[in-house]
Amino acid sequence: MKKFCHTVNWSILDQNELAADDLMLVNAAKEATAGSWSPYSGFKVGAALRLDDGTIVTGSNQENAAYPSGLCAERTALFAAGHAHPGKAVTALAIAARNSNGFTGQPITPCGACRQVLAETEQRGGQPIRYIMYGTEGTMVVEGGTDAILPFCFGADSMK
Ligand code: THU
Repeated sequence: MKKFCHTVNWSILDQNELAADDLMLVNAAKEATAGSWSPYSGFKVGAALRLDDGTIVTGSNQENAAYPSGLCAERTALFAAGHAHPGKAVTALAIAARNSNGFTGQPITPCGACRQVLAETEQRGGQPIRYIMYGTEGTMVVEGGTDAILPFCFGADSMK
């Protein structure tokens, strides 16, 4: 038998501790919540990603009366970037969410389906994605790339 261990490192930072680039992306994610169409959940999510040429692309959750037809903020941003900026690697993703009481105290992290898309996005880009997840009580930063948030991931290589 061989035993293995998967370790994830993350940080929780106060607003004034964030690096300038991270703060800029968090602010873009917060602003992106304004574009959310979320009459069913009342939960407005914004995502902002940075490409390797510095371009920032944003997205928000888009719901539908046929619930599964809606899309999360993260994939809205990822697919918009893939379409408008083909070949550009995603280097960082910031997420922010608010309900009727304002922005969440705890950061929210991408759902499983978004993590799967992030894994392939990262593989295509060839560099780890930095995750910056905003909460009013602290912002979570994960630097280990998508493997940190989706270990044992299925991908194109799995089919070889
Ligand atoms: N949602 C996102 O946009 N991103 C997440 O990371 C979690 C959930 C959306 C989907 C749905 O519109 C609403 O939040 C409630 O689940």
